[in-house]
Amino acid sequence: MSEKPTVLVGRKLPDAVEARLSRDYNAILNPDDKLYSADELIELSHQADAILPCHSEHFTAEVIEKLSDRVKVIANFSVGYDHVDTEAAKKKGIIVTNTPDVLSDATAEIAILLMLAAARRASEGERLVRSAGWKDWSPSFMVGTQVTGKRFGVIGMGRVGRVAAERARGFDMDIHYYNRSRLGPDLEKGATFHENVDDLLAKSDVLSIHCPATPDTKGLINAEKIALLPDGAIVVNTSRGAVVDDDALIAALKSGKLAAAGLDVFNGEPADIHPGYRTLDNVFLLPHIGSATMETRDGMGFRALDNLDAVFAGKEPKDRVA
Ligand code: DGY
Repeated sequence: MSEKPTVLVGRKLPDAVEARLSRDYNAILNPDDKLYSADELIELSHQADAILPCHSEHFTAEVIEKLSDRVKVIANFSVGYDHVDTEAAKKKGIIVTNTPDVLSDATAEIAILLMLAAARRASEGERLVRSAGWKDWSPSFMVGTQVTGKRFGVIGMGRVGRVAAERARGFDMDIHYYNRSRLGPDLEKGATFHENVDDLLAKSDVLSIHCPATPDTKGLINAEKIALLPDGAIVVNTSRGAVVDDDALIAALKSGKLAAAGLDVFNGEPADIHPGYRTLDNVFLLPHIGSATMETRDGMGFRALDNLDAVFAGKEPKDRVA
């Protein structure tokens, strides 16, 4: 019987995922959940036929170049794969996969949480109660924005964007979207398609960002684009921080051009996010937990394992991105 392939696992994974991994592979697990440095990843790759990383490990062109030639596949535990230089991986003959579908519900839940929390000043209110600063009530106290019946604009009507739109319909919101291509009527479900981002922005009382971070979308939501949003709009981001120009967003939140923002993802996360966010009352901030539910974490792990299984069975993995 041929020996099982060895899989280097980037982070501590759910028990059920590690159990399957250990049953089917020689797994180099990470029980202490240590964040490996680039040098450690390169060093450990000499023992591995595959790597199963999360978005927290960065596979730049330089790192990929130095990985052991033994590594056949990087099977990401994430739908986003902007942490992997796919061109460098292709050049080195390394297959790259991701985990679409399984995290759409969880991430859309967080988009709605961010929208409501931003609109109804949840961060401010929660801090007031916790700090014993709540002393009075009046009709003018903590008045926020009602989202029911407003326009919900989606940039990137992929799997997550579509579920977020579906949830927003529960608030009688009118769905508008921009996508590289128009969806068919079964997926569009009456939403209004805009052929360019600028047109979408003008119609978005709430703008929810669901496009991936790519060279094309980097800094997409900048001062010029924010100016196109209706006054008092709300911006929600569950995709990647790179899509937003932080200085522009913070300036618009300070000036009142935007009523509020709800953010789960940041440039420089986790430790080096723009300090301006920390002092603003009208942002609701979460630490990149869009997919952080037990069901979804298991789903992501099993999907990554399905991709690994396919590669080592000599088949095309379902979620190949490079
Ligand atoms: C994803 O899957 O891309 C999530 O952001 C978690 O990494």
